[in-house]
Amino acid sequence: MSRPPKILVFDSGLGGLTVFAEIAALRPDAQFVYAADEAGFPYGALPATALAPRVLAVMGRLIDLFSPDVAVIACNTASTLVLPHLRAAFPDLPFVGTVPAIKPAAQTSQSKMISVLATPGTVARDYTRGLIEAYAADCKVMLVGSSRLASLAEDFMQGDAPSDAAILDEIAPAFVEAEGRRTDAIALACTHYPLLIAQFERLAPWPVAWIDPAPAIARRTDHVLTAELGFAAGGGETARKPALAVFTGSKEAGPKLREALRLRGIAKIALEPMPLVFA
Ligand code: DGL
Repeated sequence: MSRPPKILVFDSGLGGLTVFAEIAALRPDAQFVYAADEAGFPYGALPATALAPRVLAVMGRLIDLFSPDVAVIACNTASTLVLPHLRAAFPDLPFVGTVPAIKPAAQTSQSKMISVLATPGTVARDYTRGLIEAYAADCKVMLVGSSRLASLAEDFMQGDAPSDAAILDEIAPAFVEAEGRRTDAIALACTHYPLLIAQFERLAPWPVAWIDPAPAIARRTDHVLTAELGFAAGGGETARKPALAVFTGSKEAGPKLREALRLRGIAKIALEPMPLVFA
């Protein structure tokens, strides 16, 4: 295939930008649409019965509008629940998901005490428990569900810096000491969290390895494009094309957010309002 690929990166909000940045670095030739379901945010608070139809509806609209070659679900809360439904509903479109980085956290850990920092939705999923059984059976795993961190990361991107105390309250339960051992690896199992990594590192009670799955998701996306869809390799000196951001809310982005997006190569923002309606 000689044309550049079109990649749709989707999240409930701005967290997926951490994944978008890695994919954009690997595929500077691609045309990107970054979609944030701001009207449905936060996904971590939605019951599974509401989240699945919501993601299917929003993705259906986005796929109709943009006809991507590949869709990246840059959201653990959605991926751990909705990926099979998306693949069944859109069988011709490859999906790349984002699931808690429990395997690399277990492999990285020396103390065999790891934590999974995620939304309440993700920590409650059978899928997450399955990953622990499959890949971290030799570890003591602390599941930490935070109901506030994703919103604090959104505020941070809008230029409203969260207090150290608010962040520390959310991350502290991930640091465990027992029987002379302590947590040494924490999976960032919500794509919003790497947006706050500088604060996490500064406030951590002791140094740990913070595991961000974004580079692995970027490699997987590139593999789908080249090995499965036949696109040419996309590295090299190609100048990046400006990307488009689409928000499902009705609020215009403020100046701080526009600047944060511009710095990430997103030059245009479109609103595609899709209010969240509960049946
Ligand atoms: N970014 C999403 C994730 O990776 C969660 C944020 C939310 O609660 O909407 O899980």
